[in-house]
Amino acid sequence: MSTIDLNDVDGFWAAPIEDRHAAFDTLREAPGLPFFPEPDLGWAPRGPGYYALTRMDDVLRVSRDTRRFLSSKGVGSPVDLPPELAEFHESMITMDDPRHGRLRRIVAKAFTPRSLSAVMDNVTQVAVDIVDDVVERGECDAVADISARLPLRVICDMTGVPASQHGFVFEQTNMLLGIQDPEFAAEHGDPLRIMFEASQALADLAHELAAHRAEHPADDLISRLVAAEIDGEALTPAEVAEFFILLVSAGNETTRNAISWGIELLTRYPEQRATWLDDLDGVTPTAVEEIVRWASPVMFQRRTVAEDAEPIELSGQELGPGDKVLLYYWAANRDPRHFDDPARFDVRRSPNPHVGYGGPGPHFCLGAHLARREMTVIFRELLERVPDLEITGEPVRLKSALVNGTKSLPASFTPGE
Ligand code: HEM
Repeated sequence: MSTIDLNDVDGFWAAPIEDRHAAFDTLREAPGLPFFPEPDLGWAPRGPGYYALTRMDDVLRVSRDTRRFLSSKGVGSPVDLPPELAEFHESMITMDDPRHGRLRRIVAKAFTPRSLSAVMDNVTQVAVDIVDDVVERGECDAVADISARLPLRVICDMTGVPASQHGFVFEQTNMLLGIQDPEFAAEHGDPLRIMFEASQALADLAHELAAHRAEHPADDLISRLVAAEIDGEALTPAEVAEFFILLVSAGNETTRNAISWGIELLTRYPEQRATWLDDLDGVTPTAVEEIVRWASPVMFQRRTVAEDAEPIELSGQELGPGDKVLLYYWAANRDPRHFDDPARFDVRRSPNPHVGYGGPGPHFCLGAHLARREMTVIFRELLERVPDLEITGEPVRLKSALVNGTKSLPASFTPGE
């Protein structure tokens, strides 16, 4: 696979992982910027297409230049969302400053290292419970039984979703991110319908939780959103719902895939597992960064050139108003100009200036500290109690252009206590 059609999601995921990376390496080394037509996601209108950015320098430059490269035209797809979907997804990730910054500040404090210390006892206990539940079995599905459970529980607890609704949030965010996967299409219909129904369902839950928290405030993110004011005005119920959908989907669908990839990488590279096991305290911080660089669970985000921007040149290509660029983090994270031997999974890699959590700038992942802590506690728990956990069957990948996701991962290990 030396050439690649970025819109052929089935073909992309059918190819071996080395071939997928080789195709991006070819794009990165070719002159100029590759241009692709927009994929057919089943809704109109479609624009002419988008440029794929695979070089780290381009990704960094665009991420920093938020005046000319906007998020407000959409980030998760090269195709603009139709109006019936846009109303659920106009959250801060698809806004530019100053509105973006004002919204981000409402919740940002809850995600600082200092505030996260308060939730760490819970995160650690959840990780212990997860390993308790599998340790005697000797086998499990590493996605369903391990990596899916921790981020779901943590983000639901932080937002204020009661335990009875955690499974519901899991199903609905899976659908939102799984619109290109034939499994979801077979069960739920076309992508537009799947996305609309999942968005509506999550918005209904947000309205219900917000109404309750307006009467009974608690120390959770829904309560913060309900109480927040921007320029003396409260958020509308629709804005609270959009924010909620962003938090539960971003908190859930990303860290899960990072953990799954970490488990898989330990099977692929036993010498790296041995290095990690030898020095858990010393290696864990670099290992959790390396997993995110290597896997890049969010493969890209989009930016669109502002209508009033003067022409910009990027890798020899002139860009003008309305042009769309996809920042391929997982290709930039393999750029040999920035990483020695980039295909190598190296748990001690340092420095590791990856863009797995997005590029530098105002949209840098709000949950990066949280994700690092979740990965730290679950990998420590796994390496201490099931150190030989190995993948024993074919991973089932999520068919998605956006998310480097795994749906199931058969695993076995020596049963312990
Ligand atoms: C933003 C990746 C975990 C919440 C982002 C962006 C990326 C990313 C690439 C940049 C978006 C852009 O520039 O357009 C990841 C990865 C994670 C992870 C790889 C796990 C390994 C989390 C968690 C949360 C979270 C646990 C918790 C809620 C967010 C939010 C934004 C964001 C709210 C939008 C920030 C903004 O627009 O200001 N993430 N994320 N993420 N992430 Fe994460």
